[in-house]
Amino acid sequence: MAVERTLSIIKPDAVAKNVIGQIYARFENAGLKIVAAKMAWLSAQEAGEFYAVHKERPFYAELVKFMTSGPVMIQVLEGENAIAKNRDLMGATDPKKAAPGTIRADFAESIDANAVHGSDGQDTAKAEVAFFFPAMAVYAGR
Ligand code: PPS
Repeated sequence: MAVERTLSIIKPDAVAKNVIGQIYARFENAGLKIVAAKMAWLSAQEAGEFYAVHKERPFYAELVKFMTSGPVMIQVLEGENAIAKNRDLMGATDPKKAAPGTIRADFAESIDANAVHGSDGQDTAKAEVAFFFPAMAVYAGR
């Protein structure tokens, strides 16, 4: 299996709940290594650019508003099959549909305040890692 990198964001709702450590423990226990991290309060421009792919969706403005409502914790996770592994740990977008024991089932309130973001594929992982950690692009081509 390939060693991959993926971009993870602990969203404002989960940061406000003070569960960064609990979420990090889940990454570590699943064999994912945190190879870069920073806490940030995103501007509307940054959040808008990051979610530009959803620009035409009805929830875009709400999503940008929510993602700028408080600080977020942004990290790059590395490990075998990291993209899918992180998606499994996160659970479904809507926490009501998320499997028991997943991050969203345990920590998220609603589809808009859903605790975490994770890249959904190899191309988006590369682009999203480069968006927040431009220097990472030079390491190992991952
Ligand atoms: S996907 O896999 O990208 O197609 O997922 P999708 O369900 O389309 O959601 C994309 C991101 O938008 C967020 N989302 C919403 N925000 C606010 N309100 C509503 N109704 C809503 N529905 C979806 C969802 O949490 C996804 O954010 P990220 O950060 O990518 O997880």
